[in-house]
Amino acid sequence: MKRLRIMSLVGARPNFMKIAPLCAELRKVALVEHFLVHSGQHYSEQMSGAFFRDLEMPDPQVNLEVGSGSHAWQTAEVMKRLEPVVLDWQPDLIVVVGDVNSTLAASLVAAKLGISVAHVEAGLRSFDMGMPEEVNRRLTDAVSEFLFVTEESGVRNLEREGTSRDRIFLVGNVMIDTLLRFRAASARSPILDDLGLRAEGDRPKPYAVLTLHRPANVDDEGALRQLLISLAELSRSLPTFFPIHPRSMEKVRSFGLEDHLRLDSSKHYDSGIIPIPPLSYLDFLCLMDHARMVLTDSGGIQEETTVLGVPCLTLRENTERPVTVELGTNQIVGRDAAKILSSAHKILQGDYRPGQKPPLWDGHAAERIVQILLQRMRPESIKQ
Ligand code: UD1
Repeated sequence: MKRLRIMSLVGARPNFMKIAPLCAELRKVALVEHFLVHSGQHYSEQMSGAFFRDLEMPDPQVNLEVGSGSHAWQTAEVMKRLEPVVLDWQPDLIVVVGDVNSTLAASLVAAKLGISVAHVEAGLRSFDMGMPEEVNRRLTDAVSEFLFVTEESGVRNLEREGTSRDRIFLVGNVMIDTLLRFRAASARSPILDDLGLRAEGDRPKPYAVLTLHRPANVDDEGALRQLLISLAELSRSLPTFFPIHPRSMEKVRSFGLEDHLRLDSSKHYDSGIIPIPPLSYLDFLCLMDHARMVLTDSGGIQEETTVLGVPCLTLRENTERPVTVELGTNQIVGRDAAKILSSAHKILQGDYRPGQKPPLWDGHAAERIVQILLQRMRPESIKQ
């Protein structure tokens, strides 16, 4: 039987934990030939290399080395460099994950060449076209033949947009496959000792984790200043570790907001917003797992904290992942200081919902995806 040629493409940090379980699953199927392409959208050791190692991923066969640029430039450059690779390798299917610029670029290349696209994490909608990711999600879904969805809201969104039901598959969450696989290994991370958080006894000292990188929060000086002032207030009673995205650090510097951060290198942090470099996957998972709360504008972290049972305050006005609010530990607090502080203080008093895992977030999403692809693309290989 002719082997099924599947190419998948990753580009930026949040893609790596989503593709890792698919790589592992595809490797088990003799009928499948898999070819992994890295666009190079993220290229530094901290944003890319460290993840490949932590997640035990094979090196990509090709790296397009696109690097940073404006959205249009970056998307166009991935398209230009990917097209000859696709023409040369002739895949039957291209798999893309998430909602970064590389995701959209690869799906457009495939669609224009008449190659089927599978979008993993389809159907999520923030209904905020000011977010570059929302543009990427909508356009990627529009050209995808297989729409693999993490939560019920995604199915409803796609149906409302007129997508035919036989393209939509509710399969669970590949990023959670990775979290469940690596949670035990993350417990051996040295990060708590490195940050001086190990207390006497079992429980580490209390602390919060902060991440911020959305353009709406970090590109606008007023918005970033307001957020840092509110968070600095909270951090007077709860040291807040801030693994800082390179883009956000550059903005803090260029707006002259360093005074809101604690830049001394004491290891005995009892207060303040403490910037630290971006962390590897296992270190970050360990840090989230033991935190009193996580404050973030990331999408994926809302999902990860839900599964870890750690309270999450989302510093945005909306979420494309409503199940994390309905069932999980997530609360949308926006940038309003009073709301952030009152929600955080309630959490510190133990007044929060422990949350539950959404349906199918059970560590088997990648298996389901591979089974569906084989059933649809090589039905003769499936025993009746
Ligand atoms: C991208 C994604 C975003 C995702 C985020 C995770 C888009 C539209 N955005 O945003 O959805 O949540 O990744 O990080 O695709 N840089 C480095 N090292 C790197 C890569 C980038 O220092 O390896 C710096 C460069 O200064 C670069 C900046 O980060 O200009 C922004 O990188 P870019 O890929 O354009 O977007 P992100 O903000 O990371």
